[in-house]
Amino acid sequence: MILEQKVAQQDNLIQRMKTGITGLDTILQGGIPQQSITLVSGPPGSGKSIFCFQFLYQGLKENEKVLYLTLDKKEDGLILQAKKLGIDFQESIEKGEAKFRYLNINKKLVYEAMSNEILSGQYQRIVLDSITPLSEMPMFIGNMENGNADYSFVDSEENTPSTSGPIRRRHLLFIMNALESSGSTAIITSELPMGSTNLSRDGISEFLADGVITLNFDPTMDRRKLSVMKMRNTKHTLKPQEIQITSGGITLQ
Ligand SMILES: Nc1ncnc2c1ncn2[C@@H]1O[C@H](COP(=O)(O)OP(=O)(O)OP(=O)(O)O)[C@@H](O)[C@H]1O
Ligand SMILES: [Mg+2]
Repeated sequence: MILEQKVAQQDNLIQRMKTGITGLDTILQGGIPQQSITLVSGPPGSGKSIFCFQFLYQGLKENEKVLYLTLDKKEDGLILQAKKLGIDFQESIEKGEAKFRYLNINKKLVYEAMSNEILSGQYQRIVLDSITPLSEMPMFIGNMENGNADYSFVDSEENTPSTSGPIRRRHLLFIMNALESSGSTAIITSELPMGSTNLSRDGISEFLADGVITLNFDPTMDRRKLSVMKMRNTKHTLKPQEIQITSGGITLQ
């Protein structure tokens, strides 16, 4: 078999999840690869949360179970925000098909709560909106004297917190590993300052994630853009795509 045929065959074997965003799946060979982690980053108001709503809602349409983890806003506000865009999660929440969970990063047990949710293994789609507060919080690591830096020692009260670069990487690795082990397809978001050309706030997530999508806008031209910067196992354009946010959510033009 010639190489091109082999590649085409492998392409067909990759299972993809539809994003629920009109036009995006077409430029992603059908959607995001199953069991991957995609980083969606952009400045405030660029549509990161709306992207997440649409991704989860698509899962519900396909009879999947979905989880929305948030570190910034309380569940009710997000559910209401989605409802205003015509995305009503209420019924699915009542039926146990969708779960919104606010995690307070000021609580020491945030890691345990988060891992328990992620690793419960019941969700096909998971959103973590956003990862930024988590990557900036101090980490508590215990029992280092044995050379044992197991993540189960996170949350130990006796040790000193640190916010250094390597610690930020450990935070992100911990969460990425949990998402990977869960077998879910995940979206994590990162908050970028206005005008930033970085791919994430922490400068690390873009290397750990399987895919990177950036959202941006040009206020003077009143235009919004979406760019697929990286998507493993996917042939895609790097060209920024014009998008619109309307009462139906994000659409590619
Ligand atoms: N019905 C609508 N019609 C047009 N634009 C809308 C509509 N609803 C929301 N928007 C736009 O979407 C933006 C909010 O998007 P979203 O909450 O997803 O942003 P975000 O990237 O998550 O922001 P943040 O980082 O602050 O959480 C609003 O600021 C507005 O510009
Ligand atoms: Mg948001």
